[in-house]
Parts: sequence; structure tokens; C-alpha cells
Amino acid sequence: MAQIISGNEVSKQIQAETKVESEALRSKGVVPGLATVLVGEDPASQVYIGQKIKTCNKLGIESFHHHLSEKATESEILGLVQKLNNDPKVHGILCQLPLPKHIDSDKILVAISPNKDVDGFHLMNMGKLLSKKNAREISESGIYLPCTPHGIIQLLRRTGIPMAGAEAVIVGRSNIVGKPVALLLMAENATVTICHTGTKDLGEVCRRADILVAAIGKPKVVTADMVKNGVTVIDVGVNRIGKTPEGKDMLVGDVDFDGVKEKARAITPVPGGVGPMTIAMLMVNTVKAARLLSGVK
Ligand code: GUN
Repeated sequence: MAQIISGNEVSKQIQAETKVESEALRSKGVVPGLATVLVGEDPASQVYIGQKIKTCNKLGIESFHHHLSEKATESEILGLVQKLNNDPKVHGILCQLPLPKHIDSDKILVAISPNKDVDGFHLMNMGKLLSKKNAREISESGIYLPCTPHGIIQLLRRTGIPMAGAEAVIVGRSNIVGKPVALLLMAENATVTICHTGTKDLGEVCRRADILVAAIGKPKVVTADMVKNGVTVIDVGVNRIGKTPEGKDMLVGDVDFDGVKEKARAITPVPGGVGPMTIAMLMVNTVKAARLLSGVK
């Protein structure tokens, strides 16, 4: 029976550390500030943004929320981003994805100042991450790491899962999870394989994994027959498969948790695994931005 890796618990630890840093900055006259931008009425995005704002409040980070209509134009959003780039009270800017279909997300993401890009989605931050040679270079640089991949590394590190020399298999090649988590695991000296829709025999590749990261976006794709005994499984999936009788969303991951937990050394649950880590790492990045932009240590 696997160890259940509690993202809730690790996130709490990281939030407590971040609160100390945030309060230290406040005592020196710098109030860390995060601007959130939500365009439209996507219910899941509204929940995520609500959680981010609530966590800011808990940690002494000031939040500035901007909610634009579904019909907002690209130039309106770009205008707001420009204003936030120039606002000295705002250290981090987060534009919640997905944006409505008529908006070119790439255009918006590169308009955010790389120095305030606490999501780590700007091409400059992605490129800098690509150029670093090892974990030390990454941690000493001023780059903002994307929150979910960074959260995954923290979960593994703080659970004591060895990464150096491990066979790490990532299922999914997205810009926000698959590709950057591959870079971070490589920087930790793991041997990394990325699988995707073109992979011929997914089970065969997954069975090599000491660490398996599932970031597919489809429910229960990774089943017990696809993992070896002793694997550590990180499930990034958040799939809504219906409503509970109380009207709450029923969430499942990309991994068949009940089957896979019987073979795994450790596994993250959904919910309560990777999700809370994404928010914790956003707070870490925001306080880092406040430190870097203010020059106050
Ligand atoms: N949508 C889903 N995850 C994320 C995230 O980490 N950041 C932003 N901005 N949008 C998201």
C-alpha cells in the first residue's frame, strides 16, 4: 500500500515559510502584491482565482483582482496588463488561462513584464529555464519557475523521493506542465522520457518509470498494469466527471488511483495532491518578485 503524498500538508509547510518571508518584507515597508486577471465566466477559473486570492490574504500578500467581461478585446486586456506592469504596488501578474477563444493567449502572456511573470509562462522565463544546466543554476537565477512543475519537484523533494538517477516518465507534453517538469527533473539528474499521443506503447514506457508524472487531461488513463512495483506517481489531472448528490464537482485524476496505489511506493491523490502545490508556488514566486523588484532582502 502506497504512501499518500499530501499536497495539502506540503503546501501548508511552504505557505508557512512564505508567510514568514512576506511579513519580513512588510516590516521593511514592502507589501508583496499580486494582480489577478480573469476574463469571462469559466466556473473552474473562478474557483481557482478565488483560492489564489484567499491564499494571498492568509500570507500577507495584497491582491488586486481584475474581472473583465467574456467580450473583452485583446487591446483592452493588453491595456490592463500594461497598467499592471507599471504599477509599483503590483509585483506579480497572473492572467488566468484559458482565455476566451477570440483572444491570442500567447500575445497576452508575452505582454506581461518578465520581471512580474509569477506564472513563469513568459517566453523569456521559459527560455531561461531551458538554458540552465542544473538545479543549483536554476535556484540561484532570478527566473520564475512555472508553479505546477515547481510544485511537483517540491513534493518529491520534501517526501524524500530520490530524483538523481531515477527513471522519470512524463505523460503529456504541454508548455505549462509536461515540458517544464521534464527540464526540472533533468536538472535534478533524473533520466527523463516524455510520452504523448504519438507514443506507440504507452504502457511499455510507463512501466520503466521510478517516477511517473501524469499530465494528460483525461480521466484514469494510467492503470495498474502500466506501472511497476515501487513507482512514485504524481497525478496532475483534474477531470470533472459529474456532480456529487450535494452538487459539488466530482474530480478524478489521470491515474486510476485505487488500482495504482496497490503497486506504488507513493502516490498523490486528486484532489489534495498537486493542486494545492500550484497555489503555494505562486505565493513563493510573488514574494520572490517583491524581493527582486524592491531590492529589499
Ligand atoms: N489555468 C490552469 N492552471 C493555471 C495556472 O497555473 N496559471 C494560470 N494563469 N492559469 C491556469
